[in-house]
Amino acid sequence: MLKTTLIKAAKESGKLMKEYSTKQFAIHSKDSLNNLVTEVDHASEKLIIGIIREQFPDHYILTEESGDLPKDSNTKWIIDPIDGTVNFANGIPICCVSIAVEKDGEVILGVVYNPFIGEFFFAEKGKGAFLNDEPISVSTKDNVSNSCLVTGFPYSYNEGQGLLETFASFIKKGVPVRRLGSAAIDLCWVACGRFDGYYEFFLNPWDSAAGFLIVQEAGGMVTDFKGNQFTPYNEQIIATNGKIHDELVQWINNVK
Ligand code: IPD
Ligand code: CA
Ligand code: CA
Repeated sequence: MLKTTLIKAAKESGKLMKEYSTKQFAIHSKDSLNNLVTEVDHASEKLIIGIIREQFPDHYILTEESGDLPKDSNTKWIIDPIDGTVNFANGIPICCVSIAVEKDGEVILGVVYNPFIGEFFFAEKGKGAFLNDEPISVSTKDNVSNSCLVTGFPYSYNEGQGLLETFASFIKKGVPVRRLGSAAIDLCWVACGRFDGYYEFFLNPWDSAAGFLIVQEAGGMVTDFKGNQFTPYNEQIIATNGKIHDELVQWINNVK
């Protein structure tokens, strides 16, 4: 039932995103000018929470726009109603809904659905990762120098955090680093082998929870910047095909 509800919530939310995308919708800034939220984020979130509450009124829910909706339960839903909101607001079809289910502190189910290009990523702990029902796996590149990487940046910039220095270190060595604008899609594109690695400095649980499981189930590796096992409550993330992982961890830690 968990899985059915998860899939239903993601599909309905994707449908709603697509419907709204052809009309005018309200867009607001959050804590910084370009950290956007649209009426579609709120509508999508409301829809997802409604679908979950219908089946599981006692489950804990954590969402980007409504925050923590705590319940005394060992099952927590972690929801980003639109990941890639800036893309969505600009009509760029690289955005998705991301929903994960955590049980006893472990992510056991995850879905990332981009309705605009029809890509539905799904993973269940111990049962593999899938794109539109076909099994997926990570790439086989074994060094950073010939990898294709992806990253993301926060909406506000502070000197001294190493964000641009890290990015520059790859560019100076001619390593391609893409910037799609959706952490959940970045992770899924590592999972299906389009990217060899992904890193980002500041994420929230709703950005990473589902994609994290999808990468792991596709045979990849996900850690924090120190190389420790990742949890969605870590801000820093490095996700790779496994083969370039140690080198990428070292590379990022060696940036001056
Ligand atoms: C953002 C995207 C972006 C990442 C930001 C996130 P939002 O989420 O995932 O790729 O770089 O850190 O906040 O605001 O589009 O849900
Ligand atoms: Ca997000
Ligand atoms: Ca969001």
